[in-house]
Amino acid sequence: MGRFTQTDAVFDNEEVLTDGYTPDTLIAREDEMSTYVEVLQSVANGASPRNIFVYGDTGVGKTLATEMILDELLEDQVEFDNVSVEVVWQNCKDATSYQVACHLVNHFRDRNQEIHTTGYPRSTVHRKLWEHIEDTDATHVLFVLDEIDSFRSDDELLYQIPRAHTNGNITETKIGLIGISNNFKFRDELSARVQSTLCEHEIHFKPYDADQLQEILSQRADEAFLDGALSEEVIPLTAAKVAQRTGSAREAINILSNAGFIARDNNDSTITDSHVTKAYHQVQSGVVKDELEALPTQSHVVLYTVLSLARQGRTPVRRKVIHDQYKTIAQQIGRDTVSTRTLHRRLNQLSLKGFINLMEVNKGSNGGSYYKYEFNADEDIIADVLESESRVGQIIGQHAD
Ligand SMILES: Nc1ncnc2c1ncn2[C@@H]1O[C@H](COP(=O)(O)OP(=O)(O)OP(=O)(O)O)[C@@H](O)[C@H]1O
Ligand SMILES: [Mg+2]
Repeated sequence: MGRFTQTDAVFDNEEVLTDGYTPDTLIAREDEMSTYVEVLQSVANGASPRNIFVYGDTGVGKTLATEMILDELLEDQVEFDNVSVEVVWQNCKDATSYQVACHLVNHFRDRNQEIHTTGYPRSTVHRKLWEHIEDTDATHVLFVLDEIDSFRSDDELLYQIPRAHTNGNITETKIGLIGISNNFKFRDELSARVQSTLCEHEIHFKPYDADQLQEILSQRADEAFLDGALSEEVIPLTAAKVAQRTGSAREAINILSNAGFIARDNNDSTITDSHVTKAYHQVQSGVVKDELEALPTQSHVVLYTVLSLARQGRTPVRRKVIHDQYKTIAQQIGRDTVSTRTLHRRLNQLSLKGFINLMEVNKGSNGGSYYKYEFNADEDIIADVLESESRVGQIIGQHAD
C-alpha cells in the first residue's frame, strides 16, 4: 500500500495552476482593459452605465479581465462623490433566461427569503427585480451575466435589463449590463432588439499568440514550481502547441500543471518536453472527448471516415471520395447512410469544430473551384478518443481487420 509523505519534487504551490486561482496581474490585455475603462467611465462620472457585450473563445481571459476591471472600479469609487456601485455577478452556465432572472432577484434577498426558480410568471419575477434595484442604496447596479450562451433564443432578460429605464420600470437607480459569451454563433443569433441595446459596445477577446501564452505561463510557473524544476524548453513548447490550436490560456495552464503531475508521479525532479507531450495528449483527449460527445453519432462515422482516408495517405480528399468510403464504413457497422447533402453538413460541422480543414482548390483555366478536406486535429488523439469513447469507434474496433 502506498504511503503519503509531505514532500514534492516539482511543485512549490500547485494551487497557482488551478482554475480558481486569480493571478495578481493580467497579461497582454491592455487594449481590452482600456476599452473597458472608456466605457465604464460614465459610471465613475455618475452617469448611466453603458451596456457591454464581451465575446471571444473559451479560456482567453474574459472572466478574469472583467473581474479585475470591476474590482478596480469598486476600489476607486470610494473617492467618487455621489457614486456608489453595486456589482451583481451571475454565472449563467446551463441556466435559462428565466432562471437567471430569479437568481438576480435572490442576490438582493436574504437566504430565507429567496424565491424558487420555477412557478412565477416571468413578469412577476421581473417586477420583483425592478423593485429590489429601486430599493438598493447604491446609485448604480452593474449586472454581469457570464457565460450567457445557454440562453439560446430566449434573450428576454438581455432585452429587459438595458431597457428597464426607457420602459419606465426603474427611475432612480442607474443600471448597466455586461454580457459575456464564448460562442460566436450566439452573438450573431441575438435578436435585433438585443443587439441594438446590449451590443452598444463590444469587446472582442482574441486568442493568445505564442508569446503572450509564454508570458502567462511564466508568471504562473514562477510561483507554482520549485526553482530548477522546469527545464527551459517546457514553456515555449507548451505555448507553441496551444497557440497553434486554440490560443486558450486555460488550456496552456492545464497542460503545464498536468506535465508537473506526470513528472511528480514518475518521481522525476525536472519537468521536460516529454512530460509536456504526454500532458498535451491528456488535455487534448479531454477536449476532443467533450466535443465529440456533443456531436451526433453520424458525425462520428464521418469523422472516422476522414481518419481512415488520412491513414491511407489519401488526404486532402474530395467530398465524393469521402462519401464512397463513408458508405462502405456505414455498411460495415450496420448504419444507415446519409444523403450527400447531409454528409456535406456534417463535414461543415466538423470543420467548424476544428477537427477538419476545408481547402479550396481552383480548377485552373476552366474556372470554378472545389473543396478538399484534410485533418486539422491530432490524428492519434482523435483515433484514441473515437475508439475508446465513441460507440462508433467501439463497433469499428470490433470490425477492424
Ligand atoms: N491575460 C491573462 N493573464 C494571466 N492569466 C490569464 C490571462 N488570461 C487568462 N488567464 C487565466 O486563464 C484561465 C482562463 O481565463 P478566463 O476564465 O478568464 O477565460 P474566459 O475567457 O472567461 O473563458 P470561458 O469562455 O471558458 O469562460 C484562468 O485561469 C485565468 O486566470
Ligand atoms: Mg469565463
